[in-house]
Amino acid sequence: MPDGGRFPLVGLGTWKLPKPQAPALVQAAIRAGYRHLDCACDYGNEPEVGAGIAAALRDGACRRDELWVTSKLWNTYHEPKHVRAACERSLRDLKLDVLDLYLVHFPIALAYVPFDVRYPPEWFFDPNAAKPAMKPINVPYADTWGAMEELQRAGLVKRIGVCNLNISMLRDLLAGCSIRPAVHQLELHPYLTQVRQLRYCQQEQIAVSAFSPLGAPSYLPLGMAQAAESVLTDPVVTSMAAAHGRTPGQIVLRWGVQRGCTVLPKTQSPARLAENLALFDFALSAGEMAAIDGLDRHRRFNDPGHFCEKAFNTFFPIFD
Ligand SMILES: NC(=O)c1ccc[n+]([C@@H]2O[C@H](COP(=O)([O-])OP(=O)(O)OC[C@H]3O[C@@H](n4cnc5c(N)ncnc54)[C@H](OP(=O)(O)O)[C@@H]3O)[C@@H](O)[C@H]2O)c1
Repeated sequence: MPDGGRFPLVGLGTWKLPKPQAPALVQAAIRAGYRHLDCACDYGNEPEVGAGIAAALRDGACRRDELWVTSKLWNTYHEPKHVRAACERSLRDLKLDVLDLYLVHFPIALAYVPFDVRYPPEWFFDPNAAKPAMKPINVPYADTWGAMEELQRAGLVKRIGVCNLNISMLRDLLAGCSIRPAVHQLELHPYLTQVRQLRYCQQEQIAVSAFSPLGAPSYLPLGMAQAAESVLTDPVVTSMAAAHGRTPGQIVLRWGVQRGCTVLPKTQSPARLAENLALFDFALSAGEMAAIDGLDRHRRFNDPGHFCEKAFNTFFPIFD
């Protein structure tokens, strides 16, 4: 990090981590050596993730200052007057005094839903309406960002960052901000290599975090990907895995860190916790890196331009 902080290269993703398993899994992850957790209000499990963090810190698995915890501002809190309360709620749920990183989850501003009506509010304004839909509101991203900057000035968060921006939006943000985003978190895997995003962020000294670094598996149960779209069964990856005596997942994650990103694999399997962290005792050759780079299909699985219409009855493209 330009501020001298250490951004651990592998973070545990917590989206869809079931609440009952989350405390023990997070505790086991920290015991196994994870020093980076990727959380969000929208994942609905911050209290349980927080319980796991608290248990690990109590055990002495690591010190708080050795652990990097990220959370994210949800879409319904983009109005500047709601940003601080949203951050404080995540802090309270995670049982922390400060976040290492707070990200704007999506460049999507939705109408406010009070905490006591629904938390997390998710995407529908009123899920019980006759025709439930999202309720977009007009909040300039720069205004939300101004409130994010206030959080950093007030010491609630050490750094602020963005997710899911196209380069034009990021450029616009950089043109007007007082505090630059420390991190851009975006979907990155061998079928969506985002070479220009990576290069632009590196040029601007913005760290890049890869979400869904394993590609399709996260989206199969949601009907947002087909089994044939899994890079983990791609012959280029499976043959490299055999050659290195590693799993396909490790090859894909190693490619991610070796190209300069942090990777955020989610697993709820205790065995895979160790697998996804064991990336630093082997390396891919330049030829192997190039072969994986060459797999790019520009396949975005997490695209509001598709899923908002299909699942939330609202056409909401953001990348075009
Ligand atoms: N900012 C954003 O908009 C955004 C969007 C999406 C995700 N994220 C963050 O990024 C994290 C990771 O993304 P993700 O959860 O979508 O996907 P992911 O981490 O790429 O993949 C998770 C899926 O792969 C399986 N898996 C884990 N390790 C594996 C391995 N070594 N081999 C084979 N399969 C494996 C998991 O199953 P098991 O659990 O059964 O192991 C799960 O089904 C999220 O959890 C979240 O923290 C952020």
